Amino acid sequence: MTLSKNDYSADPGSRPGTADTVTNPTAGTTFGEVLALRYSRRDALCGLAATGVIAALDTGFADALNGGTSPSARADGAKSQFTFAEIKHGVDETHHVAPGYSADVLIRWGAPVTADAPDFDPMKQSTAAQSKQFGYNCDFIGYFPLPRGSSASERALLAVNHEYTIPGLMFARVEGTREQVAIELAALGASIVEVRKDPRGEWQVVPHSRHGRRITAETPMRISGPAAGDHRLKTKADPTGTTVLGMLANCAGGQTPWGTYLSAEENFHGFFSGGANGLRPSRSERRYGIPGGTSRWARFDARFDIGVEPNEPNRFGWIVEIDPYDSSAMPRKRTALGRFRHEGAETILNRDGRVVVYSGDDQANEYIYRFVTNGRFDPTSPAANRDLLDSGALSVAKFAADGTLAWLPLVHGHGPLTAANGFTGQADVVIDARLAADLLGATKMDRPEDIEPDPRTGKVYAVMTRNADRRPDQVDGANPRGPNPFGHIIEIAPTDGDHAAPTARWELLIAAGNPRDPAHRAAYHPATSANGWFAAPDNIAFDPAGRLWVATDQGSTWSKSGTADGLWAIETDGAYRGYSRMFFRAPLGAEVTGPRFTPDGTTLFLSIQHPGAHGGKGFADPATHWPDFAPGMPPRPAVVAITRNDGGVIGA
Ligand code: FEO
Ligand code: CA
Ligand code: CA
Ligand code: CA
Repeated sequence: MTLSKNDYSADPGSRPGTADTVTNPTAGTTFGEVLALRYSRRDALCGLAATGVIAALDTGFADALNGGTSPSARADGAKSQFTFAEIKHGVDETHHVAPGYSADVLIRWGAPVTADAPDFDPMKQSTAAQSKQFGYNCDFIGYFPLPRGSSASERALLAVNHEYTIPGLMFARVEGTREQVAIELAALGASIVEVRKDPRGEWQVVPHSRHGRRITAETPMRISGPAAGDHRLKTKADPTGTTVLGMLANCAGGQTPWGTYLSAEENFHGFFSGGANGLRPSRSERRYGIPGGTSRWARFDARFDIGVEPNEPNRFGWIVEIDPYDSSAMPRKRTALGRFRHEGAETILNRDGRVVVYSGDDQANEYIYRFVTNGRFDPTSPAANRDLLDSGALSVAKFAADGTLAWLPLVHGHGPLTAANGFTGQADVVIDARLAADLLGATKMDRPEDIEPDPRTGKVYAVMTRNADRRPDQVDGANPRGPNPFGHIIEIAPTDGDHAAPTARWELLIAAGNPRDPAHRAAYHPATSANGWFAAPDNIAFDPAGRLWVATDQGSTWSKSGTADGLWAIETDGAYRGYSRMFFRAPLGAEVTGPRFTPDGTTLFLSIQHPGAHGGKGFADPATHWPDFAPGMPPRPAVVAITRNDGGVIGA
């Protein structure tokens, strides 16, 4: 999510603190400084470093993007793997997909999820109804084939996050009453829905499925891993520090090799207010931006007031593991993976059987983290995998100027992570992962969003959405991005293909923005068209053929690009490396999230989050009535299923 003060909301308190605000006060090296050094030392970029400008389609920078060989030369006679006809930049009330494809709304806010859920009536909302219906602002989509363990591409469970609420678009009158706030809490969390392709090839939600489940901001969850039971997690309602009500601000996520769903708590700080006792926020709270905003949650539940319940925020900001196949299983917050504003938690099975999770901390000048399990995945024993995520090695990335990357261990007793610096055990290290990473000198990044390994090559793609706060004096030489309003994508190659290795190498894949505007200093493959460039990359996905797809989240800054958010297909290797082509465009005000392909690559699911969130006058007169366009119906965040009209593989 990217929100700014210009976004629509009848209740300003609905917005969590913006991710563009810096709460990292340390003087560590910025990514820009590293990048500048890196490229200033490369012979191919001498001219570039001298001018300090990366011009549109500059062959020097293109060389850098392509490992030193001019892509235009290498592209002779070659073709992009993507054969769909590109759509155009633009902004209007509805969505658009490439010709020959259909994008059909599968499930929208308020639709029944549990077997006993009522139909949606926007004028008669209730907590009871919302806690059984599809939540608001859908984000991550997990695809879990049915039957379990199969690679079915016609029947599955979809697991979908619901990141945050917008009362001004949800309610005909924003009253801030106990009931409305409770409806909002019920609209957060996640939905598990059973879906299947009907005989006509259209996806449908299976009504009254026994798998249908809502998880909300009030659902009991177990806390496990090194922070479980720690005194800093104990509250009046939970003196054991092991059980918490709900998950908050769940953005992207991931899937494990054993068929569970990882849901990432991102902007949790925005739910906490107060300090009614008059105390200044602690160093830890300040580092996480707590208290982060609205007081309406605390008005009806004192656990959201840090003056009353100072440990409650320590129970959020985690990765939550959920078994979508077992609707009775209690979700678990896996504290070994660290506490920060997790964008996502994509996994890869390392060649030695250990499972590796990559996660970005989505705020300006925050870090990239990696977790490697101690144990090995056992495909024959689901029970053996159940708690794999409770013990392992958490580390944080330090990018070096020579193109190497070091993973610095966040381990109590290691280096500065000792009692002398406030870390009395591993619980402190994971609860205060940001403070621990500061001490290690991790590299400040330009708002890390999705980080996903290419399952085919093992290379890892890390998306930096943008960083308006990086000052020009924090970068030098060839680094064009201070500030960085458009974002970039980094490719990380683990040493010897080992995701548990302490080092890796890195390269830039794309510097986003308009490559035809020298002021943007953007860089793509030169064949990229006037519609093929994008701004503010956010969520990414690989299709089964190993091709990269990038969704954007510009927030209210879309006027800088002249296009609504959308989805672009990207080449990562070969002659067309760095080539980008526009495939899908969202309706006005929406961002695109959660891209997920079926195992056979013939369906792509997308979440369309916060349609109508910019412009307009709220519920009664929104900027768009997508997707229903029906009188009296507000815009509704929804999941769409994209298929090719001839049934073929998407993008091929
Ligand atoms: Fe919720 Fe970082 O986007
Ligand atoms: Ca975002
Ligand atoms: Ca995101
Ligand atoms: Ca992803």
